[in-house]
Amino acid sequence: MGLIVPDAIERYLSGLNRASDRVLDDIARGNGTRGLPLVDAEVGALLRVLAMSINATRILEIGTAVGYSGIWLAGALPPGGMLITMEMSEERAKEARENFARAGLSDRVSIMVGDAKLRLAKVSGPFDLIFQDGDKQLYTPLLDRLVALLRPRGLLVTDNVLWDGEVAPGYVAEPKRDPADTRAIAEYNERVAAHPDVLAAIVPLRDGVSIAVKRGNAPDLQPGLDALARATTALRAADFNDNAAEGPAGVGRRS
Ligand SMILES: C[S@@+](CC[C@H](N)C(=O)[O-])C[C@H]1O[C@@H](n2cnc3c(N)ncnc32)[C@H](O)[C@@H]1O
Repeated sequence: MGLIVPDAIERYLSGLNRASDRVLDDIARGNGTRGLPLVDAEVGALLRVLAMSINATRILEIGTAVGYSGIWLAGALPPGGMLITMEMSEERAKEARENFARAGLSDRVSIMVGDAKLRLAKVSGPFDLIFQDGDKQLYTPLLDRLVALLRPRGLLVTDNVLWDGEVAPGYVAEPKRDPADTRAIAEYNERVAAHPDVLAAIVPLRDGVSIAVKRGNAPDLQPGLDALARATTALRAADFNDNAAEGPAGVGRRS
């Protein structure tokens, strides 16, 4: 359990989560004694909801570990969609490959093994969603590159941004985390909040999840937005609209 959300609430949220499946449950159970810092099932469900809500077809992940969050993300992709996920450790990447296969998702996942800082120069966007969950000290150095790789209205989602509450001065009486990581995450939160190209919010779920949307209109949404604007203008001018008196000349308020 985390230190942000009270245990009883975390248990309640967990009891409501129907989105997990056998492979995800197996990985989570197997990790019980091993203790890899994987997202929990509630953050996994959030990732899937976010990816589905924007019809993501291209997703990038930094920090695969054994593929747990990757399965949550790739499970939102349509056939032909693609998750590119980066992992430093060859051993973990191998295990992730097996887990993606068990989940029936190998056809839409590509694992890049190596340092994400270097690998990122080799990928080209645009991505609909990027999930950042690797080295905390890389969060800020990678920020501008990741924003550049996103499409307009794409999402940059980042885990652990509350760091057991240690980023909030005075919240934890005896901090246990590496102070350099704490400073790195605090700096990242400030940079995202002030970044001119994104609008961000933090969800205090589990260890804190930052969700930033890239500003600008998605090109494929533009025809729909134009049609909506035309329909709105027509509705404003219609004589059944109480606001019509403020509309174009010749259009009166309904009595
Ligand atoms: C927190 S774990 C990822 C957990 C995973 N996202 C999940 O929830 O299932 C972070 C992973 O990032 C990897 N990592 C750390 N630094 C990295 C780097 N520079 N490039 C690529 N992977 C890195 C670590 O080996 C580790 O497996």
